[in-house]
Amino acid sequence: MSYLLKCIECGAEFPQGEGRTECDCGGLLDVVHDLSPLAALRELFDRRLRSWEPGNPIFQSGVWRFRELVLPVEETHILSRPEGNTPLYRSRRLSQWTGVEDLILKHEGENPTGSFKDRGMTVGVTHARLSGAKAVACASTGNTAASLAAYAALAGLPAIVFVPQGKVALGKLAQALAYGAITLEVKGDFDSAMALVRKSSRELGLYLLNSVNPFRIEGQKTIVFELVQQLSWEPPDWIVFPAGNLGNTGAFGKALAELAELGLIGRLPRLAAVQAQGANPFFRSFLAGFSRRERVEANTIATAIRIGDPVSYPRAVRALKLTDGLVVEVSDQEIMDAKAQVDAAGIGCEPASAAAVAGTRKLARQGIINRGEQVVAILTGNLLKDPQTTLAYHQGKLEGIKSTYANRPRAIEPTLEAVKEVL
Ligand code: F0G
Repeated sequence: MSYLLKCIECGAEFPQGEGRTECDCGGLLDVVHDLSPLAALRELFDRRLRSWEPGNPIFQSGVWRFRELVLPVEETHILSRPEGNTPLYRSRRLSQWTGVEDLILKHEGENPTGSFKDRGMTVGVTHARLSGAKAVACASTGNTAASLAAYAALAGLPAIVFVPQGKVALGKLAQALAYGAITLEVKGDFDSAMALVRKSSRELGLYLLNSVNPFRIEGQKTIVFELVQQLSWEPPDWIVFPAGNLGNTGAFGKALAELAELGLIGRLPRLAAVQAQGANPFFRSFLAGFSRRERVEANTIATAIRIGDPVSYPRAVRALKLTDGLVVEVSDQEIMDAKAQVDAAGIGCEPASAAAVAGTRKLARQGIINRGEQVVAILTGNLLKDPQTTLAYHQGKLEGIKSTYANRPRAIEPTLEAVKEVL
């Protein structure tokens, strides 16, 4: 089983086993698998899904079940929690609210550290350890930091996370600290933290675990592999998801390309990347037919996707071109109202994830998603990641946001009369 690394920009190739995560020209790298000897993969993946061997991460992990298409390494090297195996939800309430009858939510917030990042991180940290890394690092709006901190602790590797000061949701910051990462609060935004960690990794020999790292992308592809497997290898019409640094957008495109090449799917779903209006560089590039790469100063209540200069831009453009995909933007108001609906459905997610549902509703209203089409919206992060924003919404305390679906707490005297009055 083999793979090589190939630069998206200059085409340079590097053999398996190199510890590098970027090309010498600064371009992004692809992991290119040799797919030719891979026959009967569907049966193999289905067999693994059905079997249950205690202690074997390959069978228990929704990432490593697909390891031939992820990172073909010896089982003993794999560092897994195990992650993935996230549920699909349907909700009458959300179908009605979005206007999409056949709506499925895949909840990546039900991963070990509460976000989809664990899928990329198990592969990235496994590769970091295999290539002899002494320390691992990332810049993050919070979830990558939390995930990196947890997996580095599992690997016994020091972790250094660079986060924008004052712009990270409480649950994520708490996780990074609790899992023991050296946490650098950078006085600036995510994009400046990202530039700093890239420079620091080169200068100080830190193993970089942002989604520029091609092994992170390989792990995140399994969101799509697992989703298609859960749907009995029948892809949906649409996959809708929030887009920030564009790692997922790129990963989803690569996953679909590989599934198609292997004959595991007969047609490609359309990808719809959803951005917050205040952090919409990819949307702007989309409007310009991807003729230019846009950068903005980002600002949105969905701090996870508060990103103005996404690093995986080239991968993401490729993914949208392949799938006849599109980008849509939604306002913070639309995001928070969608979140209130997802939460009240008993499912729950963090603000950035709700952008997927807000985007689904918008596309259905615009008639771009047609009646009868099947849509899978990816919920990327857990409700508990950002309790502050949730509380402020329900208490009517979010500046510039109307609490359309507020469920206010009510203080009462400790008497039965007071309870009766409320009920
Ligand atoms: N949703 C959540 C909950 C996220 O944390 C992120 C990214 C995204 C969506 C966007 O995904 O970057 O692949 O386009 N969070 C990163 C972080 C940037 O640092 O945790 P993307």
